[in-house]
Amino acid sequence: MEMGFIEIGDEEYQDLLMAILQQYSYDFSGYSKASMKRRISRFLINKNLGTLRELKLRILADADYFDFFLEEVTVNVTEMFRDPSFYLSLRKNVVPYLKTYPFVRIWDAGCSTGEEAYSLAMLFKEEAILARSRFYATDINGKVLQTAKEGIYPISCMKEYSRNYIKAGGLYSLSDYYHARYNRAIMDSELSKNFLFSVHNLVHDGSFNEFNLIVCRNVLIYFQKELQEKVLELFMDSLPVFGFLALGNKESLRFSKIEKYFQVIDHKEKIYRRIN
Ligand SMILES: C[S@@+](CC[C@H](N)C(=O)[O-])C[C@H]1O[C@@H](n2cnc3c(N)ncnc32)[C@H](O)[C@@H]1O
Repeated sequence: MEMGFIEIGDEEYQDLLMAILQQYSYDFSGYSKASMKRRISRFLINKNLGTLRELKLRILADADYFDFFLEEVTVNVTEMFRDPSFYLSLRKNVVPYLKTYPFVRIWDAGCSTGEEAYSLAMLFKEEAILARSRFYATDINGKVLQTAKEGIYPISCMKEYSRNYIKAGGLYSLSDYYHARYNRAIMDSELSKNFLFSVHNLVHDGSFNEFNLIVCRNVLIYFQKELQEKVLELFMDSLPVFGFLALGNKESLRFSKIEKYFQVIDHKEKIYRRIN
């Protein structure tokens, strides 16, 4: 059944974003307007708020309420071995190069609740490079990072994740990497030993290291072209020559300003390598 919808005008939308920017320093002006408006409209309906003005007043009066709003309007959908063919390609086309390095640094930008980082860690373990890898997993949303740090997921998801794991070329069984307690799957702590989780906002936080591989999947699709360009430049600044960049399958370096500095490693899986 179609849910209700509250029409949000451009002016009141800009006014809300400006208030959030001034009070909390979060800049959403570069996010795709139509989908932001859709999510805000859904939030208004679910929380029984009649108008955007009402939402603005609540947000400005209460920082916890703003956090809650942030959690609801950023899309955090993720899964283990999401798009299994991406992991197959990573194993085949990227890992052989990473294996030649004495130390491997990975940035998982927009990692959400961590399933992606754990998937990468499993792959790295099977390829015998986990022990000399360090994963920097970041997100704008501190709440999802808390879940990522805990590494505890609903056991009900594991069936689908196991199927993904097998399609992704997993060598063993997903259940080797967690233990089940009641209705929860607790990830093996060996996987997260070299994880560093931290809040990082791609809109205005800068480069903080150089990486051999940056994975930023299903994040840029929520941004307008100009913000996408800005974030891609941040990735370029964070990659040495021969560093790899992996985007989501609806994202691309095509037509971006940095395209000329990269070689396409896998067109379909959106894997690139910096060449100059
Ligand atoms: C759809 S999830 C993608 C999760 C995972 N990368 C995947 O592909 O399954 C998008 C994530 O991007 C994060 N995000 C949105 N805006 C961001 C920003 N400005 N800086 C960092 N992360 C952001 C959201 O909080 C969310 O966790």
